[in-house]
Amino acid sequence: MRIVHVLGTRPNFVKMAPLIAAISRRSPETAQLIVHTGQHYDHLMSEIFFDQLGVPAPDFMLEVGSGSHALQTARVMERLEPLLIENRPDLVVVPGDVNSTVAAALTAVKLEIPVAHLEAGLRSYDRSMPEEINRIITDQIADTLWVHSEEALRNLELEGIPAGRAGFVGNTMIDSLVALEDRFRPLETCRSFGLEPGSYLLVTLHRPALVDGPLLFDAIAALNQVSAVMPVLFPVHPRTRARLAGNAELAENLHLVDPAGYLEFLSLEADAGAVLTDSGGIQEETTYLGIPCFTLRDNTERPVTIELGTNVLLGLDPARITEIPAIIAGADPSAAPPEPPPLWDGHAADRIAEQLAAT
Ligand code: UD1
Ligand code: UDP
Repeated sequence: MRIVHVLGTRPNFVKMAPLIAAISRRSPETAQLIVHTGQHYDHLMSEIFFDQLGVPAPDFMLEVGSGSHALQTARVMERLEPLLIENRPDLVVVPGDVNSTVAAALTAVKLEIPVAHLEAGLRSYDRSMPEEINRIITDQIADTLWVHSEEALRNLELEGIPAGRAGFVGNTMIDSLVALEDRFRPLETCRSFGLEPGSYLLVTLHRPALVDGPLLFDAIAALNQVSAVMPVLFPVHPRTRARLAGNAELAENLHLVDPAGYLEFLSLEADAGAVLTDSGGIQEETTYLGIPCFTLRDNTERPVTIELGTNVLLGLDPARITEIPAIIAGADPSAAPPEPPPLWDGHAADRIAEQLAAT
């Protein structure tokens, strides 16, 4: 069997690393080719993840870079097509919901190459999110849908996708976290920023709805206020860095830093007093770690994180950031963190590799 994996962005690398490793272990005779679209390209957004997660170097680099949605999607399709024709894989695997995902899926299905979608079935029911469009299209055209939560199965059913195409395998992003737990737990990365474990608010914000307009500066103003009672550490996504363009006034205890490596970021998450984010993956990781998470969005495609109580949906309302210190101060310190959702157990990739071996 020959598989082509198409990866393009930071969360893609985290989701795919365990699957590539599990297939190598379970079926060493399977040829796996890795295509990096180049949607993310900075060292701290790309290469460091391959190093820390032990992903083999990509076999092909498409170098599509940044651009509008149409341009990025078109470039992936144009550059991937000849490569798929030449290598004619038995399966193309695409993770998540980014432009590289939908572009690769479309290219492969038009060549009648089977496609598997990892992390299928998530829905925010908000079509103004580019990711929602990418998810809907990818799930409709993919042949195999690997799902990480029961609600995702229900979403697919509601769209009329035959149940036989979907399989509840678990969460490979949590596989990555579990695999590296012994390495990130002792790091105490927060100390390199002069912060004590448990004392600080960790922040990531990168969704266009928030950072591409004035709400970003409202969020910085609210974080300045929070930092008077709780230090704030904010590893800044390059999209957000570009939008800030050095124009924000920062209080002394609001630290804007470069994106963190994966191990360093997991250490910062595990040691945080709380996390404020609009990231999808970070809502999941904080749920697994039992760290209070506040999501600065109107909706989430990961409602299981809300149901378990680790994640609070603040709304797309930066003023509410100032409520965070009081909310965490009011929490019962003796309350045990909830059990992670079913199959968020570190073995999702093994289940997929087993399924593939059986086909
Ligand atoms: C993309 C995904 C989003 C995902 C996020 C993960 C889409 C539509 N969006 O958003 O779903 O949550 O990745 O992080 O696919 N840039 C750099 N260096 C890089 C990468 C990006 O400077 O290595 C800057 C460029 O100015 C670029 C901007 O960030 O224009 C946005 O990058 P892009 O990949 O288009 O979207 P993200 O916001 O990263
Ligand atoms: N992450 C990281 N460094 C950072 C911020 C995030 O390593 O500075 C990791 C995080 O642990 C998670 C993934 O990147 O595994 C989430 O990516 P992101 O928030 O960019 O994308 P999303 O999940 O929103 O699509």
